[in-house]
Amino acid sequence: MRTWPDPFQHFEHWYAEAQRCDGLDVPAMALATATPEARPSLRIVYFKGLVAGAFSFYTNYTSRKGRELAANSNAALLFYWQPLERQIRIEGTVQKLSREASQRYFASRALAKQISASISDQSSVIPSYQNLQQRFTQAQTEHTGDSLPCPPHWGGYAMTPGCFEFYISDENRLNERVYYECNGGGGWQIKYLSP
Ligand SMILES: Cc1cc2nc3c(=O)[nH]c(=O)nc-3n(C[C@H](O)[C@H](O)[C@H](O)COP(=O)(O)O)c2cc1C
Repeated sequence: MRTWPDPFQHFEHWYAEAQRCDGLDVPAMALATATPEARPSLRIVYFKGLVAGAFSFYTNYTSRKGRELAANSNAALLFYWQPLERQIRIEGTVQKLSREASQRYFASRALAKQISASISDQSSVIPSYQNLQQRFTQAQTEHTGDSLPCPPHWGGYAMTPGCFEFYISDENRLNERVYYECNGGGGWQIKYLSP
């Protein structure tokens, strides 16, 4: 596997190669969070770009992941691109993006998605899916303008990585694993892991 002195360059090369591959949902990444008692939870979110060296995504701050991140900022990300037989694991700490960045991104979304985000108390128990659809339809009739303001419960996060692992499957299971660890001084140390 080709390596770079900086794992962000490695990530960007692999990401661009995945984008050239048909039928892949390239930005879909698994996000693992955990309670302070180390009870983990995992879900897919969309990667929305690197912001000052951190992996950004958007969600509801009062969702399960939002509550877990408020109590424990440690998290992990995973990209898996099956046709390329590649995965990337990233571990680090997560901070909220600025209110301005969240508002800017929210404003770029279609009105229907803004309405969904505004009416959804993500991860809470609801009476039924039909009830949610009715609230969505009701909100659509009430909001005839172009855009809604970004709700206070919604916004972005960004994960600052402390380590990356780049993995390529091998047909004999002699899988190749390259691990980059932040050395604290802004540099990265490369290690090779046994499959
Ligand atoms: C392909 C895909 C992309 C998703 N992207 C997002 C996203 O960007 N933000 C988000 O909040 N949820 C996204 N979801 C939904 C999450 O997986 C999850 O159901 C939701 O965020 C609630 O998670 P929580 O209860 O653990 O907080 C996505 C789901 C899929 C399958």
